[in-house]
Amino acid sequence: MNTDADIGGIALHTGEDADTLAERLAGDVATVLERAIEARGGATLVVSGGSTPPPMFERLRRLPLDWARVTITLADERVVEPADEQSNERLVKRMLLLDEAAAARWVSLYEDGLDSAQPDAALSRVAARVAALPGPFDVVLLGMGGDGHTASLFPDAAELESAMSATPDVQVALLRPPSQPLTRLSLVAARLCAARHLWLHITGESKRALLADSLSVESARDGLPIARVLRKADTDRAIYWAP
Ligand code: 6PG
Repeated sequence: MNTDADIGGIALHTGEDADTLAERLAGDVATVLERAIEARGGATLVVSGGSTPPPMFERLRRLPLDWARVTITLADERVVEPADEQSNERLVKRMLLLDEAAAARWVSLYEDGLDSAQPDAALSRVAARVAALPGPFDVVLLGMGGDGHTASLFPDAAELESAMSATPDVQVALLRPPSQPLTRLSLVAARLCAARHLWLHITGESKRALLADSLSVESARDGLPIARVLRKADTDRAIYWAP
């Protein structure tokens, strides 16, 4: 993997456009998964939802890996039925768990009851599934929103500090950001950051500028969730970006 430069001291890998970047990232993810399988007999991949990942999913799913030894889950989920078009699980099943990658093991973050008045039992069931995943995760792929959120760690969520400071064994948290129409479930920051490779996948000048600003400690925006997560990680971090 060639490093083109850095942003805030974090390695920057670029593509001339979104598709070229998707190709490069898919290849790099596959390389890490292959090495993990060789070294430990299996690999765990954590992906994000949104509009940025699909071109990478389409390429990654066609790569020849021992996918039966790969476990895939999400960094976060919207609290809706998996059949709902807003579900990240629906996106992953329609865009990634196909072709060669259809053989991968899928671990859902959805549970009935997460959107009830008493979600604790459902949340505990999700936490138990995440806790049972081999750790540390081999690759965590994050996105970033225009407000500096990553996974479902939203700056306007009252639950943010708890999700940012929770220990890894907490696994997951529910967040209800006023800016979002849906309740969200997110892996807590410490669980995301305990990855062998923590890679951010973003495109566009505005996201690059926001990220650079948030990683600049002189900036008032250095407290955005994306910057806090990237700085919290003490592992291989990289930014994959295209204009
Ligand atoms: C989600 C994602 C979220 C996403 C950002 C960026 O559930 O939507 O996990 O964290 O990565 O919102 O989304 P875009 O790639 O669509 O800009």
